[in-house]
Amino acid sequence: MKPFSIIVGFDSQYGIGKNGQLPWHLPLDLIHFKNITSAVSDPSLKNALIMGRKTWDSLPQKFRPLPGRENLVLTKTGKLNLPPVVLSSSSLDDALDQLTRPTIENIFVIGGQQVYAQAINHPLCQKLYVTHVQGQYACDSFFPPISRQFIPVSASEFYTDGTISFQFSEYLRQI
Ligand SMILES: NC(=O)c1ccc[n+]([C@@H]2O[C@H](COP(=O)([O-])OP(=O)(O)OC[C@H]3O[C@@H](n4cnc5c(N)ncnc54)[C@H](OP(=O)(O)O)[C@@H]3O)[C@@H](O)[C@H]2O)c1
Repeated sequence: MKPFSIIVGFDSQYGIGKNGQLPWHLPLDLIHFKNITSAVSDPSLKNALIMGRKTWDSLPQKFRPLPGRENLVLTKTGKLNLPPVVLSSSSLDDALDQLTRPTIENIFVIGGQQVYAQAINHPLCQKLYVTHVQGQYACDSFFPPISRQFIPVSASEFYTDGTISFQFSEYLRQI
């Protein structure tokens, strides 16, 4: 199995979602998400995204599967009517196994709460891309506490969209 990264945006209380959706609309963060998860060093390869079934459900139909990347949906019920190009799996390890192939360069876990909670404790989770959104958004889903094994290695300047300020950070797991 290959190492993977997590990408997430959370507020000052680690809130990530509300009523099955993102709590904020931040176009610059969506561009950042697309850039990070699409970037490959070998243009003949693709990256892969692993998401929970509820996060898949939260994506507008016209934007899913997320283009240019392999999409894999975690589901235990297996009753989903996914488009044929979308992979599915009944465990995180099985998903990582499926995606450990020569055509895939990087693997990203993209949420939501249930899947982040499993992924951050997985020994192959090596990097976190975090958008720190300032303020509180009365969220009902949350990112788990980040263990001290993850060390912040970079932080951008603060950006503002309307009244919302946010910052892009990266954390690496220390061996
Ligand atoms: N801020 C962010 O960066 C961000 C990113 C993504 C999502 N979100 C938000 O997070 C919220 C959704 O989070 P959530 O925790 O409710 O849902 P989720 O993690 O997206 O999906 C949960 C579902 O995934 C499946 N699942 C979870 N673990 C599994 C495993 N090990 N093996 C197989 N299937 C597994 C199950 O599907 P079945 O029920 O089909 O078995 C489960 O019900 C939404 O509000 C969304 O907008 C925020």
